Amino acid sequence: MKILVTGGTGYIGSHTVVELQKQNFEVVIVDNLSNSQAEVVDSIEKITGIRPHFEEFDLVNRELTEAFFKKHNDIKGVIHFAAFKAVGESVEKPLMYYRNNLVSLMNILESMISNGIPNLVFSSSCTVYGQPDELPVSEKAPIKKAESPYGNTKQISEEILTDTIHSSSVNAIALRYFNPIGAHDSALIGELPLGVPNNLVPFITQTAIGLRKQLSVFGEDYNTPDGTAIRDYIHVVDLAKAHVVAVKRMIENKMKNSFEVFNLGTGNGYSVLDVIKSFERVSGLPLNYKIVGRRPGDVEQVWADPAWSNEELGWKAERSLDEMNASAWKWEQVYRGKNSSK
Ligand code: UD1
Repeated sequence: MKILVTGGTGYIGSHTVVELQKQNFEVVIVDNLSNSQAEVVDSIEKITGIRPHFEEFDLVNRELTEAFFKKHNDIKGVIHFAAFKAVGESVEKPLMYYRNNLVSLMNILESMISNGIPNLVFSSSCTVYGQPDELPVSEKAPIKKAESPYGNTKQISEEILTDTIHSSSVNAIALRYFNPIGAHDSALIGELPLGVPNNLVPFITQTAIGLRKQLSVFGEDYNTPDGTAIRDYIHVVDLAKAHVVAVKRMIENKMKNSFEVFNLGTGNGYSVLDVIKSFERVSGLPLNYKIVGRRPGDVEQVWADPAWSNEELGWKAERSLDEMNASAWKWEQVYRGKNSSK
């Protein structure tokens, strides 16, 4: 059964391709390599023994997208990861974010409709909840005004999906990710941020390996037990597995509504200092960090109520924070060892 994974050479996409192949799906990747590398396809093949079909083009291009779908009209489901995701950059370049993230989604939906392909799994984010009034946050929580154009693209995308499923044969599942971290056990695929990382764990591992001098901890005056901000970190392999469950649910006609939304988190909140302590524990290294001011746009604390996804999807995140950090650290070391020039 053929599944299209857009953004399949990216961080979450590549881990999902591996899990799909392990479950005997045939995978076709589309990626424009704007934030990833073609060698990821080789790494996927090394892990699973199967080379996914890969086409390099930009899904913002309407003609190329339609031509692709015409050629592959036996696709049974689409998992759409391809998008820009840097919060700060989206504030600097909002139109770039709106065009890339929204036009690609609309192109995919139009081509799914014209080629009779019904099932779409969409990468959404817990950012749609903003700072929730109640914790843990369930799917029923209200959507808050987005803090950034990036967050707004996720909200608008969910609205585009809601409207589209009402007027077409397309079904959609939006998966709202909390904070994905870690890497594949093989250390052949992992997170590869371009330039200075924005996210916490890549910054920690790059500091530990000597690429960055010091980690800045953004804020210690939050209303949390240790004063640093709290997030729900989830291992990327656990996250990837949820996509396989979601796509199967669609193909097997098990959806209860034609648009469904699920939280993908562990249900545990950890502070920035908790993450640092866990990293120090598993790596055996002291981390050079200092406390600085808050980062604009950051929420104080958010963690998932995963009850609905646990119950309905029969999926549960299994890996601990220590396992997440250990795999991220192994990936960083293996990657830098192999690529000393980078
Ligand atoms: C945010 C968005 C998420 C989005 C992601 C993409 C929210 C709740 N989450 O994640 O939807 O997909 O960006 O990039 O809006 N931190 C430091 N020092 C650093 C980096 C981070 O202290 O150098 C802290 C942050 O202040 C935060 C935590 O670590 O408290 C996690 O930060 P990060 O990894 O950037 O993820 P979010 O901002 O939570």
